[in-house]
Amino acid sequence: MNDPTLASPLARPERLTVLVPPVPPVPSVDDVPAMPPSRTAVQTDEPRRTPLPQSYAPRDLANLRAEGISAWFGTHMVLDRVSLNMPAGIITSLIGPSGCGKSTFLRILNRMHELVPSAAMAGQVLLDGADVYDPKRRLTDARRHIGMVFQKPNPFPAMSIRENVLAGLRLTGMKASNSDKDALVESSLRRAGLWAEVANRLSAPGGGLSGGQQQRLCIARSLAVRPRVLLMDEPCSALDPTSTRVIEETMLELAQEVTIVIVTHNMQQAARVSQQCAFFLASQGTPGVIVEHGDTSAMFQSPQDERTAAYVEGRFG
Ligand SMILES: Nc1ncnc2c1ncn2[C@@H]1O[C@H](COP(=O)(O)OP(=O)(O)O)[C@@H](O)[C@H]1O
Ligand SMILES: [Mg+2]
Repeated sequence: MNDPTLASPLARPERLTVLVPPVPPVPSVDDVPAMPPSRTAVQTDEPRRTPLPQSYAPRDLANLRAEGISAWFGTHMVLDRVSLNMPAGIITSLIGPSGCGKSTFLRILNRMHELVPSAAMAGQVLLDGADVYDPKRRLTDARRHIGMVFQKPNPFPAMSIRENVLAGLRLTGMKASNSDKDALVESSLRRAGLWAEVANRLSAPGGGLSGGQQQRLCIARSLAVRPRVLLMDEPCSALDPTSTRVIEETMLELAQEVTIVIVTHNMQQAARVSQQCAFFLASQGTPGVIVEHGDTSAMFQSPQDERTAAYVEGRFG
């Protein structure tokens, strides 16, 4: 009975408590496919300096896959073997009541979960088949390839708009000449739908922008390091309807070049922006699971599970 494999799935499997440190086990290094060739290919030698991409033509879109993701805070299991394919080129929305593990799931996708001292996880995250938790890969690589935008816009308030956009470069070891930086600032702000509003005040502080503009500045900051995936955790919940619309339009345009996963409590938003939807639920103190996922309009119009129907119709949550 001491065999952990015989324990209840709710028991924290010590052999899989793989985070902070040591790094998680992977099945076999030989089984892990190499990162797809790209200008942001991973180098293992130190120090690594990634040249700045010269052009911003769309690259191959990335497929993100979570397999059997479980998560714990201390002994509290909050996700139980969640698997989800987040295909390239579409927007996936994660819906469900508060506390069912959506943000935890999102943070696991780009290795932010392990910043929490008591946090542990099991399972795999695969970016185009390559394990994001591969111990040979740097933590910053996961965060650069898989960017994140949070509920509350978090620009550096005293830093200029321009410097805010460029802030991620140093953190991820990318360098650029001043003229490259100018081009990068403009292209990132354009793609985030903010350029027209700030082009003539790039040296003004980021903190002086409206909430919706600050959120687009944060999107521009994420885009500047050329992520392949953009995770957005309730990015509009602090914004007015007009700003929300602008962000949604921006997302729909960005979906042409980055794979997007968004957590939203707004069913209309999920319906407007996402093609695929996953419904998370943690009932009666049990860990979060995906109850149902699939085509967004099908899920809203003819949900297969009674609990999904109750949630999308607003009967709880
Ligand atoms: N840093 C943390 N420490 C301990 N428990 C946490 C932490 N963050 C989240 N939790 C718990 O994990 C569960 C899932 O939370 P979360 O992922 O934030 O859900 P959601 O985003 O769906 O509202 C909740 O029970 C929450 O209380
Ligand atoms: Mg959340």
